[in-house]
Amino acid sequence: MYLGFIVTLFSFSDISAFYHDPGLYAPGWIDYLNLQENLTNDLFANYDPTISTVYADIADWEPLGDNPRTIDRWNYTILLYYLKLVEVQEPAEKVSVVLELVERWYDPRLSWNISLYSNVSTIFARQEKVWSPTLSPFGVNEIIDFRDQDFRLISIDFTGYLNDYLSVRVSANCPMDVSRFPFDSQTCQIRFCLPIFNIRQVKILNEIYEGILQEKIIKTMGNSEWKVVSLTNRVEQLKYDDDYGNMDLAVFEITIRRNPLYYIYMIVFPSFVINGISIVGIFLKSADKMSKLNVGLTNIMTMTFILGVMADKIPRTGSIPLLGIYIIINLLIMIIAITVVVLITELRQWAVPRLKLKKSYMSRKLETFLGSPIEYTCAILLEFLTTANFFVMIGFWFEDL
Ligand SMILES: *[C@@H]1O[C@H](CO)[C@@H](O)[C@H](O)[C@H]1NC(C)=O
Ligand SMILES: *[C@@H]1O[C@H](CO)[C@@H](O)[C@H](O)[C@H]1NC(C)=O
Ligand SMILES: *[C@@H]1O[C@H](CO)[C@@H](O)[C@H](O)[C@H]1NC(C)=O
Ligand SMILES: *[C@@H]1O[C@H](CO)[C@@H](O)[C@H](O)[C@H]1NC(C)=O
Repeated sequence: MYLGFIVTLFSFSDISAFYHDPGLYAPGWIDYLNLQENLTNDLFANYDPTISTVYADIADWEPLGDNPRTIDRWNYTILLYYLKLVEVQEPAEKVSVVLELVERWYDPRLSWNISLYSNVSTIFARQEKVWSPTLSPFGVNEIIDFRDQDFRLISIDFTGYLNDYLSVRVSANCPMDVSRFPFDSQTCQIRFCLPIFNIRQVKILNEIYEGILQEKIIKTMGNSEWKVVSLTNRVEQLKYDDDYGNMDLAVFEITIRRNPLYYIYMIVFPSFVINGISIVGIFLKSADKMSKLNVGLTNIMTMTFILGVMADKIPRTGSIPLLGIYIIINLLIMIIAITVVVLITELRQWAVPRLKLKKSYMSRKLETFLGSPIEYTCAILLEFLTTANFFVMIGFWFEDL
């Protein structure tokens, strides 16, 4: 029995010293593993991962990409596989996104003839076994690579193309235009470059995985406040006049639109209601002047407080956002209401005796008007202004939809 075991063990010894349960391992699989092992050994026999694969023997004066010694510049592709918006910090003008990226490059030392290896076309290896370029963000605030250094894998294609996968969180600086806040859209760029190599040596390409450009996938990229409306890619060339520091930049551009609902029900609607009621309060006939003033001043304080809430959400730029204009108009309406209430008694004291002297039809009419009708008219006019202000504001929302 022991002998049988040892015989079994040895008959598989070209694979490994362990017994393979035929119920678990198909023979084809074992062949494949063997083959892969042979292939890996052959591929890496003379491979030194510290030696770069980039063709760099190009002089500064040679024209770009037109080099008889190589086919083209060394290609380096960044493929965006998914994007998720994490956070938008308007005051700091920062946008954080999580990116799932695939890097692809070419290393001719790692190609093989598939007919010599029973058509095995791809193998997988640890990234530390091969030379890899270092993707770097350009002009980005912060980048965090979520992968553990020890668990990075790459796939190697028989043609010599290598792919690796990275999951990074990038916090990009992004100038914000809040003049239409809270109905604003922002456009942000996330830029990557390959440092150290110059533009004659490396050509950067970038792509977006087509599957994620579907409407239903793009919808999942935003967060509760921001919706991603578009996602594009391009390669930009960073140019300086001296032609020396030029650099290829892979740019991913996102356009995001704010969901204004929160600001509508937290700021726009309440301030409309508060203003509307305060105007009624100010022009209330039975109230004395002091309590009317109280209503007005409380309202002004509330509006100022609301402005303060808004100020926390926007960068300190020169332009006044729409929401700010809306609140300031509300504030002005309230100031007009207070002014009217304060001055109306003075006006009556000044005008009524003079009108009484004239005794014409017009002056009698004017005298009646200076009674309670003037207050009603002012109240209705100001209520109308408040409502108009509110609907113009809401109009901007529907314009965006
Ligand atoms: C792997 O290489 C060994 C030694 O060269 C050889 O004996 C074996 O047949 C090879 N295996 C396959 C599956 O090619
Ligand atoms: C690099 O990419 C370009 C454009 O896709 C392609 O035409 C060229 O053949 C590639 N060069 C190499 C060396 O792979
Ligand atoms: C690959 O190997 C086969 C078999 O040895 C040979 O006929 C073929 O020419 C090789 N192909 C290349 C591109 O070297
Ligand atoms: C490899 O692929 C070629 C073409 O598809 C086929 O003719 C050949 O039989 C395959 N060889 C093996 C070992 O599977």
